Amino acid sequence: MFESLKPAPPDAIVGMIKLAAADQNPDKIDLGVGIYQDQAGATPVMAAVKQAETRLLAEETSKKYIGILGNPDFNRLFSELMFGADSKTVTSGRLAVAQAAGGSGALRLGAELIKLANPHATVWVSTPTWANHQPLIGSTGLPIKPYPYYNKQTQTIDFDEMCAELRTHAKAGDAVLLHGCCHNPTGADLTHAQWQAIADLMLEKGLLPFVDLAYAGLGDGLDEDSYGLRLLADICPELVLAASCSKNFGLYKERVGLVAALTTSPKAAKLAEGQIGLTMRRMISMPPDHGAALGAKILADPVLNTEWRTELEDMRVRINGLRVALSQALSVQGREQMAAALVAQKGMFSLLPVTPEQAEKLRSEHSIYLLNSGRINIAGAKFETIERLADCILSVL
Ligand code: LMR
Repeated sequence: MFESLKPAPPDAIVGMIKLAAADQNPDKIDLGVGIYQDQAGATPVMAAVKQAETRLLAEETSKKYIGILGNPDFNRLFSELMFGADSKTVTSGRLAVAQAAGGSGALRLGAELIKLANPHATVWVSTPTWANHQPLIGSTGLPIKPYPYYNKQTQTIDFDEMCAELRTHAKAGDAVLLHGCCHNPTGADLTHAQWQAIADLMLEKGLLPFVDLAYAGLGDGLDEDSYGLRLLADICPELVLAASCSKNFGLYKERVGLVAALTTSPKAAKLAEGQIGLTMRRMISMPPDHGAALGAKILADPVLNTEWRTELEDMRVRINGLRVALSQALSVQGREQMAAALVAQKGMFSLLPVTPEQAEKLRSEHSIYLLNSGRINIAGAKFETIERLADCILSVL
């Protein structure tokens, strides 16, 4: 019976991991998948994570299930990290939280919850957005519509168009997927004033913010990167958060994330937790624990916490240093806009104004791997080869 299956469509990011891995050129530059790489091109286990693992190994006495909503310490501490420990959001009892299988698992659980609460909701996503948003959220059956976000020509956010589209066409009860920071794939983030305007618009129109916060700590810093989320939580009565520990804890393959729903009452929060738990049970039964236990240990222990924050800050500073270096190397006559956009944008990603053909040329002629959309992961670059990278980019443009 399986011969009747249709071939699975290719996935741009998964495909690029394979292509880059197969290239034997020692000078290849892999700017494809969004994984942090250090100066040696490695993605080591963070020192704080290693220490937490050592402790966990010594202390763990059982592998029994931890419960349908996951590790309660992780859920509490990670929510506090995202929303602020003393925030009204956390202390009000109106927050439903559950551990999820990475940010993707959180997005899926969040979308399922939205569908259960409002089967007529449309989910609005930015143009462009992470390539997996539509498949992940669309798998729930919820319709998805695009809102304008980034102008590839001017390399800036089309904020007026974004607001106009949502104001005119989104209906009360629709969800709007917003990238909390380090927009994937563009790196173009909303300013504080724009977050305020979006929060006001959400409130006025009765729209539900659905915040994807997968890169907290890699833009302007942990608290700064939660600015939009916290503002929305203060202004809007309800929201859904899908957060990830993949990048900021380097826990990629452990699949740790958090789904949170801010509701209007402790009673509604309990109902939301019940439905998230039921959805989890129907999808994977019980969540895994290892990665969440590490996150909880790091966040609970002041020494590990400080060490982790320092390591995360080093990663952030390195990414920003690479942004400046690439921007300077690309800063030739006629390319000023691209150079300026690189330093203004945040986090791992920027969208270069290259065509799919030019991206292909960079791969085949220079072993430089980026997505056909022009997305680069700056964290895959190295200072000593940044001039070569810039020269190759300029040569294909
Ligand atoms: C990315 O955007 O490259 C990452 O989020 C990894 C992935 O799974 O796509």
